[in-house]
Amino acid sequence: MSARFDGKVVVITGGSRGQGASHAERLASEGADVLCGDVLDEVGEEMAAGLRAKNLRVTYQHLDVTSSDDWATAMAWCDERGRLDVLVNNAGIIHVNPLTEETLAGWNQTMAVNATGTLLGMQAAVPLMRATGGGSIINVASIFGVAGADGYIAYTASKGAIIAMSKTAALELAKDKIRVNSICPGGVSTPMNENEPEGGVVPQTPLGRRAHVSEISGAIAFLASDDAVFVTGTELIIDGGFLAK
Ligand SMILES: NC(=O)c1ccc[n+]([C@@H]2O[C@H](COP(=O)([O-])OP(=O)(O)OC[C@H]3O[C@@H](n4cnc5c(N)ncnc54)[C@H](O)[C@@H]3O)[C@@H](O)[C@H]2O)c1
Repeated sequence: MSARFDGKVVVITGGSRGQGASHAERLASEGADVLCGDVLDEVGEEMAAGLRAKNLRVTYQHLDVTSSDDWATAMAWCDERGRLDVLVNNAGIIHVNPLTEETLAGWNQTMAVNATGTLLGMQAAVPLMRATGGGSIINVASIFGVAGADGYIAYTASKGAIIAMSKTAALELAKDKIRVNSICPGGVSTPMNENEPEGGVVPQTPLGRRAHVSEISGAIAFLASDDAVFVTGTELIIDGGFLAK
């Protein structure tokens, strides 16, 4: 039996560690040829080598999502393979500052990586997806793009922007059979939240824990696959019930 992503080419940003690395392993284990881009080059090279040792097709390449030149290099890698089927705009940074103390530099940096990086990724991917008859773009937002988060003004703005622009992109790209969705994880155990105050969002999470990265990868695999062929312009909340209250 063939695997869901046999013959498919996938790009994942922020793929050196955390959720991105887990998505790479999941999609490659279902047959995909995966490019992971990140700014943590040593970590990324090691991660990709580890997955190749498991006979998975995973390549690491430097990709700062705020750089148009880096996006061009990533698309050149896809051009060599003649296609791009799935783009996961997963790279992101957390930034803590309340409204009245936020700086222009902090705001701009957070928006640049989380929001502008997602925009540049979609712009880079569309021509090749169009040329090969479609694709799936998954943009990683957060529960804090839906709900407010005390002390995280720039982060919440950037994640809200991701949800909103995913919907507009879905409308604009539907005629090209390119689906665009966002996901809104709740707390996930990754290096991003290892310095969070005790418990983080866990006390407000009905399931009483953070997600394991693999539990987010299952949702990514669904949205990336033809199982989600009629799913576009939506946000999939994966939060252990956090937003249900
Ligand atoms: N961990 C959580 O609880 C949580 C919850 C909701 C949403 N998210 C989102 O999930 C995504 C993945 O985060 P994670 O939890 O795996 O954390 P992480 O910090 O382990 O991973 C984020 C990755 O993005 C990379 N990155 C940062 N700036 C970049 C840039 N300019 N270009 C390319 N890569 C860059 C980092 O180097 C890192 O490898 C992020 O968008 C994050 O905002 C995380």
